[in-house]
Amino acid sequence: MMKCLKPVGIVGTGSCLPERILTNSDLEKIVDTSDEWITTRTGIKERRISDDKTATSDLATCAALRAMESAGVVAEDIDLIIVGTVTPDMAFPSTACIVQDNIGAVNAAAFDLEAACTGFIYGLSVGEKFISTGQAKTVLVIGAETLSKICNWEDRNTCVLFGDGAGAAVLREVEEGSGIMSTVLGAEGWKGKALMQPAGGSRMPASHETIEGKKHYIHMDGSEVFKFAVNIMAQAARKVAEKVGIGMEQINYIIPHQANIRIVEAAAKRLNFDMERIYVNLDSYGNMSAASIPVALDEAAKAGKIVKGDNVLLVGFGAGLTWGSCIVRWSI
Ligand code: ACO
Repeated sequence: MMKCLKPVGIVGTGSCLPERILTNSDLEKIVDTSDEWITTRTGIKERRISDDKTATSDLATCAALRAMESAGVVAEDIDLIIVGTVTPDMAFPSTACIVQDNIGAVNAAAFDLEAACTGFIYGLSVGEKFISTGQAKTVLVIGAETLSKICNWEDRNTCVLFGDGAGAAVLREVEEGSGIMSTVLGAEGWKGKALMQPAGGSRMPASHETIEGKKHYIHMDGSEVFKFAVNIMAQAARKVAEKVGIGMEQINYIIPHQANIRIVEAAAKRLNFDMERIYVNLDSYGNMSAASIPVALDEAAKAGKIVKGDNVLLVGFGAGLTWGSCIVRWSI
């Protein structure tokens, strides 16, 4: 027997960024780089960096409270908290459980989800299933990172790219014909070595050698990730539009993962999609991994770039390598 699934949408968003700004000219004093190189190769001008006392859960909590306020929900309403992150406060307890405690969501289940920069889209997809199948009524999905804590500040290939921040969304049942129309998720695990934090897990537990070898930092084959990203962004966008049964011309707005302006522009070109209708904030924040998409979504919604009834396409890629896309018919 076919079960009637409930339509699920985003009913509130929030974001939170550390106050400290690190500009490209600040970076010129730390590594052998230049504002000109970073701007032309990436589009990034500055990024936010958390202080020593701030962990991922602090940014996640702040973004969550803002999303809850915008959705008009209280902590007791929340049935599930999902945090997408590659920079959890610690291996366990999960950052989601720490957020649960911080906000007092006593009725919630809570877990972290690790799909790197695609974490928020993966989280939306999972959260949607919990509500559509009647397992939960209110789900909080958060993407939060403090990548500055795992950057090698002596490696110009990586440290110029990343920043810290958090974004959150509250999911609930919405009107028929609106909300999350579909998600498409994928992974190419065989390309995983292109982007990794080699040590600190069970394969390479922390030791004096791993610390001396700087193996707790981000290691990246930039050009490999670049090639993957350029192809997958356009493919993932097309796939989800096909699944929903609409053409790219029916997409009102795209919120892409904010890794590099060249990746976003290449995807726009392949999709023949106007850059004016693609949200870009990577110039201000750099790549915040799982936080990039929800922060951009929150900013775009609050700036009135997305209005009720719009088809909003979220698309991203990340370590794993993972990728994902989602179309949300905006319902608020
Ligand atoms: N400043 C100055 N020179 C630099 C810097 C820097 N910050 N970084 C690298 N260079 C040098 C390199 O050493 C190299 O010099 P060489 O030719 O003498 O060896 C030269 O610049 C060119 O380097 P390339 O790697 O060819 O530069 P490219 O144009 O590919 O840009 C970049 C590099 C920006 C990293 C690009 O490959 C990229 O954006 N890749 C995707 C990365 C990405 O999106 N990662 C995040 C994934 S999301 C996640 O899950 C965390």
